[in-house]
Amino acid sequence: MATHEPIPPGATVGILGGGQLGRMIALAAARLGYRCHIFCPEADSPAAQVSAAMTVADYEDREALRRFAADVDVVTLEFENVPLVAVETLTATVPVRPGARALEVAQDRIVEKDFLRSIDVPTTDYRQAENANDVAAAALELGTPCVLKTTRFGYDGKGQVRIDDADAAEAAWAEMGGQIGIVEAFVDFDCEISVLVARGPDGQVVSYCPVENRHANHILDTTIAPANISDAVAVQAIDLATRTAEALDYVGLLAVEMFVTRDGAVLVNEIAPRPHNSGHWTIDACLTSQFEQAVRAACALPLGSADRVADAEMKNLLGDDAARWPELLADPGAHLHLYGKAEARPGRKMGHVTWLKGNPD
Ligand SMILES: Nc1ncnc2c1ncn2[C@@H]1O[C@H](COP(=O)(O)OP(=O)(O)OP(=O)(O)O)[C@@H](O)[C@H]1O
Ligand SMILES: [Mg+2]
Repeated sequence: MATHEPIPPGATVGILGGGQLGRMIALAAARLGYRCHIFCPEADSPAAQVSAAMTVADYEDREALRRFAADVDVVTLEFENVPLVAVETLTATVPVRPGARALEVAQDRIVEKDFLRSIDVPTTDYRQAENANDVAAAALELGTPCVLKTTRFGYDGKGQVRIDDADAAEAAWAEMGGQIGIVEAFVDFDCEISVLVARGPDGQVVSYCPVENRHANHILDTTIAPANISDAVAVQAIDLATRTAEALDYVGLLAVEMFVTRDGAVLVNEIAPRPHNSGHWTIDACLTSQFEQAVRAACALPLGSADRVADAEMKNLLGDDAARWPELLADPGAHLHLYGKAEARPGRKMGHVTWLKGNPD
């Protein structure tokens, strides 16, 4: 359905995925007067807790997908590894925004990097590896250190190993369990940034300022908005994200993770076809949050302003960090967000906190 007709408040927004991103999309949708229906395999999900309806079913359960499609007016998603068959099944009945093409690209690191290269968006150099010999050859060609990653289903640095010399290729391949991989030249970066762009079905694009992301143990720890980069780098980063969204004919909120190298080049690391952890600060510090933009884009409403009303710092609350809630609530500058997860496993994203840092320049 290629309609650009607005899906008005009062309608039902379907969301694939039940995690904290779905929860925050649902909260933003509710504020605009929508009902939300969550589809995910897990019972008592953070998103379903705050939504009007839920379907607990497997993503490949066609009957459940058809019933879900009949109940909703549009579908968006918070999880990029939804099987493409689910999206194709739904698309027969309702618009799915973002759609299958963006998912197909984001689900596979080789497809993703090949796509980025095809539209002249720079990435680090890479090779596909189907066996240990390929890994060793790639390590020789690309130089060391380099990184072997699984092509699919990686997150929070899971499914990747660093290779410090070509002799370590065999062990790295074994460690990854022999799945098809990608070997990437290691980027000696100055900082990691991300750019979030929203794009509507009519092609309107709105971009947030680039932000800096600092990781600890391969998981995002802190986002600093705006990133401390030159105007030239910021302009380039926004241009890369915008061109990526346009080339995908993207509808929704797209996150683009990038490296800024020591000589000021910007390389795209990966894209996420959904709201992103590095955009949580926008809830408290921007005129329109990334989650509201995702809803506006999916519902073909005008996009909101991405201007920030304050600079900000966001910190993730992992595992037991969330037990600090009394102290954080007592901090008058802290905006606390908790996701309603019952069990605080180590490294699990339980919530986040945003501090506003004064007026933007
Ligand atoms: N080629 C590289 N050179 C240098 N550092 C890298 C490279 N690839 C990944 N990293 C580091 O590892 C982190 C995680 O990598 P990547 O984003 O590819 O994986 P992920 O598992 O999808 O992680 P996430 O879910 O946090 O986005 C990056 O943010 C970066 O710090
Ligand atoms: Mg990443």
